[in-house]
Amino acid sequence: MSVEAILPKVIEWERETGRVIVLDQTRLPSEVTFIACDQVAQVWDAIRRLCVRGAPAIGVAAAYGVCLAAGRAARGEWRADSLAAIEHLATSRPTAVNLFWALDRMRAQVESTAADEDGLLFGRLLDEALRIHEEDRQLCAAIGRFGAGLLERTLATIDATSGPTEPIGILTHCNAGALATGGIGTALAPVYEWFSRGKTVHVFADETRPLLQGARLTAWELRQVGIPVTVLADSAAGSLLASGRISAVLVGADRIAASGDVANKVGTYPLAVLARQHGVPLFVSAPHSTFDLTLRDGAAIPIEHRSGDELSAGFARSPLPAGCEFWNPAFDVTPARWISAIITDTGVIESPDTERVRRWHDAAIAGR
Ligand code: MRU
Repeated sequence: MSVEAILPKVIEWERETGRVIVLDQTRLPSEVTFIACDQVAQVWDAIRRLCVRGAPAIGVAAAYGVCLAAGRAARGEWRADSLAAIEHLATSRPTAVNLFWALDRMRAQVESTAADEDGLLFGRLLDEALRIHEEDRQLCAAIGRFGAGLLERTLATIDATSGPTEPIGILTHCNAGALATGGIGTALAPVYEWFSRGKTVHVFADETRPLLQGARLTAWELRQVGIPVTVLADSAAGSLLASGRISAVLVGADRIAASGDVANKVGTYPLAVLARQHGVPLFVSAPHSTFDLTLRDGAAIPIEHRSGDELSAGFARSPLPAGCEFWNPAFDVTPARWISAIITDTGVIESPDTERVRRWHDAAIAGR
């Protein structure tokens, strides 16, 4: 059975009721429950609270959110309400550029619909949101194929020097799997593709403090599919890399600047430095919708800072002494020099830098 047939749908447009249904990821792994949104504010809240999360999934959810606004607006207010929804949804989370990429596409639909064609707007917006969703599914599949090829080449090199590696050991951080996208994921796509080719793999998932996306979500989805997974404390990653059991580190991305610098879940940067220190390649998987070539480098990527409450969440009693200050960035930036390759939906950018990202971008545009 395919990964998509096994796992619950992360987001869906329910045609009969005109609602957006999202899997409530804050309840996983103990409960598989869904939230039915019929207001833009509910979609905003679902994104903000991480019920729906992961860069591509946020973009898809926001696109459907705009459809809610258009579908429920009073006659004559369709355009204004759709544009207001786009502005509002853009404030939900700042780092993943897929959100703004999807909203820009929705805005283009509004702007290309003439005032006297207002009646067509909802249909056009829904078609565009469904297209964004379906495209993401296909981008994930393409990343899976390119990534599996890269893993094959990586293993051939390791096997030639240190003997056969079975099963292949993959270390990942946060969740960049099916739960984070409209398809089979980005970082986990090569893993699923590898597994579907009948090859063995063992995934090691950083628990990913403070919200435990690795322990709660990555481990859960891999177990549903039947892939062996071991969860480790984030601080154990160095010892694991030193043990020689990891052939590659695979992570996703929330935004990639023109320089190849990558913003991803906080903790990715130290993982990249550790991987390099231990001679293990770090591969970033991301679709073209995650690249933001308007930003010269990672310093310009806006990093979300979240509530200090998250640092004490999940414990019976808060581990923080009363009155202490907190620092809770949700993402960090990994400079391109620590990244071995970026796996995209149109190919692999080896040792990314400004020139190589530009060449990849030009080739991808020419091929579209
Ligand atoms: O805060 P989250 O759970 O939305 O963070 C998600 C990540 O950092 C993912 O690695 C990234 O969005 C890529 S998802 C394919």
